[in-house]
Amino acid sequence: MRSSLLSIAALLLGVVSAAPADPKPATAAVPKPDADGKYWIHGKGISAAFVPYGASISDLLIKDKNGVVRDIVMGFDNATHYTLDKAHAHLNGVPGRYANRIKNSTFEIDGVRYKVAANDNKTPEHPQGLNTLHGGPDGWDWRNFTVSAYTNSSITFSIVDPDGKEGFPGEVVSFITYSLGDMTWDFKMVAIATTKKTPIMLTNHGYFNLDGFSNDQTNLALNHTFHLPYSGQRVDVDDILIPTGDILANKKGSVNDFWSKPKQIGASFNDPEIINNCGGGCVGYDNCWLVNRAQNGPYDWRKDGYVASLSSAWSGIKLDIYSDQEAFQMYTCNFQDGTMPLKKSQGLKDNAKFPRTIPKYGCLVLEVQEWIDAINQPQWGRSSKQIFEPGGDPYVLQASYRFSVA
Ligand SMILES: *[C@@H]1O[C@H](CO)[C@@H](O)[C@H](O)[C@H]1NC(C)=O
Ligand SMILES: *[C@@H]1O[C@H](CO)[C@@H](O)[C@H](O)[C@H]1NC(C)=O
Ligand SMILES: *[C@@H]1O[C@H](CO)[C@@H](O)[C@H](O)[C@H]1NC(C)=O
Ligand SMILES: *[C@@H]1O[C@H](CO)[C@@H](O)[C@H](O)[C@H]1NC(C)=O
Ligand SMILES: *[C@@H]1O[C@H](CO)[C@@H](O)[C@H](O)[C@H]1NC(C)=O
Repeated sequence: MRSSLLSIAALLLGVVSAAPADPKPATAAVPKPDADGKYWIHGKGISAAFVPYGASISDLLIKDKNGVVRDIVMGFDNATHYTLDKAHAHLNGVPGRYANRIKNSTFEIDGVRYKVAANDNKTPEHPQGLNTLHGGPDGWDWRNFTVSAYTNSSITFSIVDPDGKEGFPGEVVSFITYSLGDMTWDFKMVAIATTKKTPIMLTNHGYFNLDGFSNDQTNLALNHTFHLPYSGQRVDVDDILIPTGDILANKKGSVNDFWSKPKQIGASFNDPEIINNCGGGCVGYDNCWLVNRAQNGPYDWRKDGYVASLSSAWSGIKLDIYSDQEAFQMYTCNFQDGTMPLKKSQGLKDNAKFPRTIPKYGCLVLEVQEWIDAINQPQWGRSSKQIFEPGGDPYVLQASYRFSVA
């Protein structure tokens, strides 16, 4: 069963390399993790490292406009720290089997109500939490994935999520492939419900700072410029970030307008509407914008324009995100508190100016994904993209992160 699924998924993802006549024994060319437990892959002008914990990207290296190599993702120097870290920031991994929040830790499929493990918004009456975030207290990004395939330019992780784990119905088998090309980082995620109908929603929860956390003018990411050309609407949320069911317009010039023109992340931070924009008492962004493009007719997500773009004038690094997903979450690291350390590859030579830690607003999380908590909003009509069953279509997410330097 497993191996046939593996070959189905591998075919789907095109991870099976053509394997032309290789004179060397297969083992000779297989790259190994480095002394820090990281799996490095390489493309043209780009290198990246990954760890099995959460199938996370730990390092992403690009040269800036001055030719200086910048490591633009948050992470740890050593693979072992990912398991040990108590803060658990969902550090560049794959939250699963259902990313983001599930209202009241419950959902219904075919008239059956399921209760999943809560882990978010803990209160005295609900010590475990009021809702479920990123798949529960032992969601996918708290576990080690298996390295299923590994070449010099690509790595595939797999996970088997058992029936009943965290309260979810049925087994899910998933493959995550990351590959590097010419200044590109592509990923493909596929997941299959093997035994029961179940919700599935994945993403990559990457924390970025396009200055490599080394900007000598500011250690914040608020001067990064952001553009969401298809996102005239967003999901309305309550004060604990649970969708209310409403879809809101992002009026031109308002704090959540990143569609009418590219705008610096911090440009609306003086607008009173930024207060409570990311939940009660929260100033900043932690929002789910819709990607509305199907109404213009069929489109090819690989060619017909990015869904999101982020750039920094300081480093000159620009990231254009192409994806088949129809929502986009952006988070301004509102809960970073200056305790997360930089990696050795990051920070200023003269450490006197800024501490070697990441402050509030010092990073940005970018997530291509489906409409959040749509399993509890049936009127949105997203169930074919959120609920999967044995013998049905697999869950598929594809994205291409394309870099350039100005
Ligand atoms: C670094 O990671 C490797 C592999 O995960 C581990 O064996 C080693 O002890 C770690 N070293 C430190 C200093 O944490
Ligand atoms: C929350 O879920 C429980 C079942 O676990 C249910 O009894 C309760 O009515 C739900 N509350 C709300 C507000 O939906
Ligand atoms: C993940 O693997 C590492 C290296 O083998 C190990 O130290 C760690 O305990 C594992 N973590 C989990 C959550 O299984
Ligand atoms: C892997 O890619 C790097 C960077 O392009 C290159 O230096 C190295 O020789 C490659 N290794 C193999 C085994 O092809
Ligand atoms: C950086 O952002 C701040 C706050 O939004 C703004 O006042 C400042 O002009 C920006 N600096 C640059 C160089 O764009």
